[in-house]
Amino acid sequence: MDDTGIDRDSRQIHTSQPLNKRLWHPSPLIHQIVLVTTVSEEGVENVAPKSLISMLSFDPPILVIGCNRHHNTAKNIIATREFVVNIPHRRHVQEVWRSSELPHPRRVSDMGLTAIPGVNVKAPRIKECPAHLECTLDSTKTWGDEMALFGEIVSFTMLEELGHGWEEWYRQLGPFLFLEDKLYGVVKAQRVES
Ligand SMILES: Cc1cc2nc3c(=O)[nH]c(=O)nc-3n(C[C@H](O)[C@H](O)[C@H](O)COP(=O)(O)O)c2cc1C
Repeated sequence: MDDTGIDRDSRQIHTSQPLNKRLWHPSPLIHQIVLVTTVSEEGVENVAPKSLISMLSFDPPILVIGCNRHHNTAKNIIATREFVVNIPHRRHVQEVWRSSELPHPRRVSDMGLTAIPGVNVKAPRIKECPAHLECTLDSTKTWGDEMALFGEIVSFTMLEELGHGWEEWYRQLGPFLFLEDKLYGVVKAQRVES
């Protein structure tokens, strides 16, 4: 057995797996967990955890969120064409997970965190999150009940003091990942040997 956990001498057999991601144990695809803040057309604030998120383009800076189209997050984004992707630290993992079950209207303060104004959008940022990506809606694509919301990043704010050196930066940022229901992973920066 080498340090990747694979026994090089054993016969490795790959079996077919279901296409439904909810049945993947373990999941071969993992996703960063973020808190998306939005406001409704009437100005009512909302927060929800999302993990189907990815950066798609450097220039222009485009990201995508996968969201059920009946969720308040999707409805608010379509109504106001704005949202904020807040990057929570893993110290808040319990609050983040529990927030998905809080009743609506679901304000940031309902999860024990603090809303602060956005720089360029009406949706709030979350003070306790080390970084925030403010976005305007570019376009959407829908499949049944699910949809992709493509956003252009129009403002990026991050804690000024994240310590010294790359190990400390990522420790202070504290990103964490969705593995499968009730299971998360943490990120530890490691440098590739040259
Ligand atoms: C860690 C975590 C990640 C989640 N990721 C997503 C996601 O990527 N897309 C989605 O539609 N729902 C996701 N959910 C479920 C929603 O957060 C949940 O249904 C929430 O109540 C929706 O709130 P909203 O209606 O205010 O948007 C996730 C839940 C948790 C706990």
